[in-house]
Amino acid sequence: FNIPEVKNEPVLSYAPGTPERKELQEKIKELRAMTVSLPMIIGGREVTTDKKIEMRPPHDLGHLLGHYYQGDASHVSQAIDAALEAREKWSKMSWQHRASIFLKAADLLAGPYRSKINAATMLGQSKNAFQSEIDAACELADFYRYGVKCMVDIYEMQPESSKGIWNYAAYRPLEGFVFALTPFNFTSIAGNLPVAPALMGNTVVWKPSKTAVYSAAVIMEVLREAGVPDGVINLVHVSGPTAADVVFNHPDFAGIHFTGSTGVFQNIWKTIGENIHKYKTYPRIVGETGGKDFIFADNTADVQALATAFVRGAFEYQGQKCSAASRVYIPKSIWPKTWEAIEAQLKTVKMGGPEDFTNFVNAVIDESSYDKLKGFIDDARTDADAEVIWGGKCDKTKGYFIEPTVILAKKPDYITMQEELFGPVVTVYVYEDDKLDETLTILDNTSMYALTGAVFSQDRYSIEKIMDRLENAAGNFYINDKPTGAVVGQQPFGGARGSGTNDKAGSVFNFIRWVSIRAIKENF
Ligand code: ALA
Repeated sequence: FNIPEVKNEPVLSYAPGTPERKELQEKIKELRAMTVSLPMIIGGREVTTDKKIEMRPPHDLGHLLGHYYQGDASHVSQAIDAALEAREKWSKMSWQHRASIFLKAADLLAGPYRSKINAATMLGQSKNAFQSEIDAACELADFYRYGVKCMVDIYEMQPESSKGIWNYAAYRPLEGFVFALTPFNFTSIAGNLPVAPALMGNTVVWKPSKTAVYSAAVIMEVLREAGVPDGVINLVHVSGPTAADVVFNHPDFAGIHFTGSTGVFQNIWKTIGENIHKYKTYPRIVGETGGKDFIFADNTADVQALATAFVRGAFEYQGQKCSAASRVYIPKSIWPKTWEAIEAQLKTVKMGGPEDFTNFVNAVIDESSYDKLKGFIDDARTDADAEVIWGGKCDKTKGYFIEPTVILAKKPDYITMQEELFGPVVTVYVYEDDKLDETLTILDNTSMYALTGAVFSQDRYSIEKIMDRLENAAGNFYINDKPTGAVVGQQPFGGARGSGTNDKAGSVFNFIRWVSIRAIKENF
């Protein structure tokens, strides 16, 4: 099958004086001047309720962006009914028509909706312009375009036939509906999780994070304008437990596409297990969960490159990427020079709202995240096993601001070397140069997660050895680069152990989970 050539959407710079910067600033102004009311979208209908929840920028709590309408269990049931009804036609629709809808959605995101999806992400999730651009505009467009390519690649995978026998595989959608539960930290992940199953012919109930409803509404607007038929993707705003009660008790529940915390995912898995006898089919469970992502350097590492990876890996989007570097192992011999280089970069980092394009660090997502992070920082200040060597100031008078913070751990299993904090706090452990082997073992055993990891070394034997020793410590490895910023089509993304089912978002490995294959043999 020939489809348009798929390439990653080029990232715009938003440098001063560029047309994209002007357009984005105007869009931000426009959205700030409005007070939106965002409905649920069920079977193509805009559904409102009498419960309105306020939305405020995490960096500017005095400003009201608008409200969204909160639903209840009846809305989840309606969304499931709408999905099952829409399935009748959607599951039979030819792939070319499905492809054309999502290719159009990608072009809308990269074109007329670019500034809107970026502005909604900046205001709603406190992400700076560049971070929004690589996420909400480019990565989401990439997910849709590469998704189409993956779909076609899968359909082309056919078994051998022989004389008198024709074998073929029919890639059917799952029998039932899929539930997409999406996070706040990447608009692209939120937009991809309901669409990947839909592209393969499934219909979906989508519950976005309550802290990312604004950008979810823009994604839904794009999908509807691109021609996604009513009922194929149904957007509901309900609490997690309300959704779980209805979805996981439904006989037609056929799969979940999840990104979020490990605890929530484990509870979901347990609930599905308890209800397994209720379902027509074994549900597909696909999830990306937590991370305790590392940087490991040996004493040949390029100190400047390491410092840049440290600052960008740990503090871009306030360390709220699931891939963010949050524990770092550096040998004693290069630590003074490395810290000097890190400090020099940290001195240039500005914090504030993303509407001022010179701010690199913005606010963390909400009060519970702020309180949790502040708690870890306060503990580190008084614990003999740790020292706060940079930042640490927290202030929630205007927004949930936490300074980029570096903790030096005196013990490699200090609590912040183990637990996922999901914020701008990174912990460093300085190891003795002759204890590299022991340190690798400690790294491998310190955390339950295995999402991303970066190795810094200029010695190829050493790189090979470290990679080998840490074979299962990450799903995405980076050599001499920060552990964030996987690009769709280039670095399939996902982790194992406590970090997820490693079904690599945006790759055929993920899309294959959303089909139920019928193998057919015909004798001539
Ligand atoms: N795909 C995102 C990254 O790699 C999570 O940073």
